[in-house]
Amino acid sequence: MCGIVAYFGRKPAQPILIEGLKRLEYRGYDSAGLALLEHSDFSIYKTPGRIANLEVILPVPPQKAVLGIGHTRWATHGQPNTTNAHPHVDYTGKIALVHNGIIENYATLKKWLIKEGCTFKSETDTEVAANLIGYFYSKNQTRDGRGCPSECDRFEWAVQQAINEIVGTFGLAILCRDCPETLIGVKKGSPLILGVGKNEFIIASDASAIIEHTSQAVYLSDGEMVTICRDSFSTKTLSNETVDAELKEIEISLDQIELEGFSHYMQKEIAEQPASLETCLNGRIDLKNGRVVLGGIQSRLRELTRTKRIILTACGTAWHAGLVGEFLFEQLARIPAEVEYASEFRYRNPILEEGTVVIAISQSGETADTLAAIEQAKERGATVLGAVNVVGSTIARMTDAGVYLRVGPEIGVASTKAFTAQVAVLSMLAIELGRRRHLSNDVAEGLLKELVAIPNKIKSILTQSEIIRDIAAANVDRENWLFLGRGFNYPVALEGALKLKEISYIHAEGLPAAEMKHGPIALITDGMPAVFIATRCAQYDKIIGNIEEVRARGGRTIVVATEGDEQIRPYADHVIYIPDTCDYFQPLLTVVPLQILAYHAAVLHGHDVDKPRNLAKSVTVE
Ligand code: F6R
Repeated sequence: MCGIVAYFGRKPAQPILIEGLKRLEYRGYDSAGLALLEHSDFSIYKTPGRIANLEVILPVPPQKAVLGIGHTRWATHGQPNTTNAHPHVDYTGKIALVHNGIIENYATLKKWLIKEGCTFKSETDTEVAANLIGYFYSKNQTRDGRGCPSECDRFEWAVQQAINEIVGTFGLAILCRDCPETLIGVKKGSPLILGVGKNEFIIASDASAIIEHTSQAVYLSDGEMVTICRDSFSTKTLSNETVDAELKEIEISLDQIELEGFSHYMQKEIAEQPASLETCLNGRIDLKNGRVVLGGIQSRLRELTRTKRIILTACGTAWHAGLVGEFLFEQLARIPAEVEYASEFRYRNPILEEGTVVIAISQSGETADTLAAIEQAKERGATVLGAVNVVGSTIARMTDAGVYLRVGPEIGVASTKAFTAQVAVLSMLAIELGRRRHLSNDVAEGLLKELVAIPNKIKSILTQSEIIRDIAAANVDRENWLFLGRGFNYPVALEGALKLKEISYIHAEGLPAAEMKHGPIALITDGMPAVFIATRCAQYDKIIGNIEEVRARGGRTIVVATEGDEQIRPYADHVIYIPDTCDYFQPLLTVVPLQILAYHAAVLHGHDVDKPRNLAKSVTVE
């Protein structure tokens, strides 16, 4: 949520910041801004709306400044207007900063700063950080009257004083008018990466804004700051202790973050699933011995095999994957399992018996609620494992061990390829635990063979995009939809409804199909689309009954069915056929036509598929 980028090098900063912001725009896109520092003067450009709006107000040719900071916002405090857009400049006019995250105690700090004579222009929490740094910088002393030690740099010192007052999670990039050769970045909870190029440095919320310039980066840890002075940089803790920076190779490549001929990232990411799933499974399945090798958690497998309970925790789409995981752990490993909304779990004072293992699932590895749920679990002594996509993300670092999804950057706000990889990772884990507990090697081997066949089966679903587009076109004018599934396809019904509502803004409800008659059936009106996942599975006959109930009340049925199932035709206004697989892995296939359906519905409505309204990728606020 919110993207920040900062540049200090030899080239004009303006175009580099704009390119970086475009790469980060998926993190938030309601307003944007830049601050350039040249000859001890700030030039500030801010506007509501997209980066394209910001480009319109920027100087042509670009300003010569080689130092600057930029921001693309997802509003938390204050409307997305020009005043609330970042960068924010402090009351003395000396400090400018951009911010990603939340300052939880901003109201208390603001009250105190006003009492001290500071003025505020915006409604944001961010301006408190700017004013706080400006306050310590101009007063040159702490709250209790101690001055900045002579051996310290005053700008750095003021930043440290301010940050130590702030409660919350955030990343910051900060400039000072008196220090035209200095750029400071701070990480506390929100991601911040320093790209180290030849005579240039880029600070950004994620590697996609850096990779075009350099593949060398320092992944700052929480509570660390970086100070860049012209050609060198140093990293420190917020209490001014030097930290040795470790240069790492950025693991993403430029083509992974380009559209490569697709119209939208979501479309590209749906299409990537055969390849991304293959990468996710690759090297982890030993078919000969019917075993799974998950490097990151191998040393924890004994503990997991003996655990009395598994708790999966996540948000949104990742929670839906977790629900599939719950069913997989119960059915394949015979271990009691529950999936918990991280946002509820964190406040529920949960009871975790000794030996409970918690698995946190997250694409971004930065979701604030999931982070808080992990903290809760750790405080109660649970082992916490992660199933995370973004390498080096906060969740990946704070869990005891974990498995990466390995699907590459997911840029479309609506999660697609991360979901299938999350389900695949949980499937591998459930099979391995099952094999260690009670499944025969033959059964485990059979399941693994089926799992590795899934990527190819997805390919055949992708070829039906046009058929699915026509189904979307025939129903896209309807304002209310139902998604219904049973067993392993119940989580997919929830996911199908979420996909449709988040990008096409059509109201949709996902339900276990049999629950419909306990209330929601009252919603069915003539022509209302009801998407049924009615593949050949344990509950096939039951779901046919549910389809009849909807048809009897005038509902229009869109049915996802198994190839070759002609019996389903009379029950369906539209059929989407998909290849057969066992019940356990059905979500990996049945979700794909629903992703494609939602995609086409959104395109037909003319919506910005990759940047749906009010949303942003990676929800780093509560
Ligand atoms: C929906 C979607 C969200 C995320 C949720 C968790 O398409 O993307 O529901 O799944 O915000 O995000 P991560 O997986 O990054 O923790």
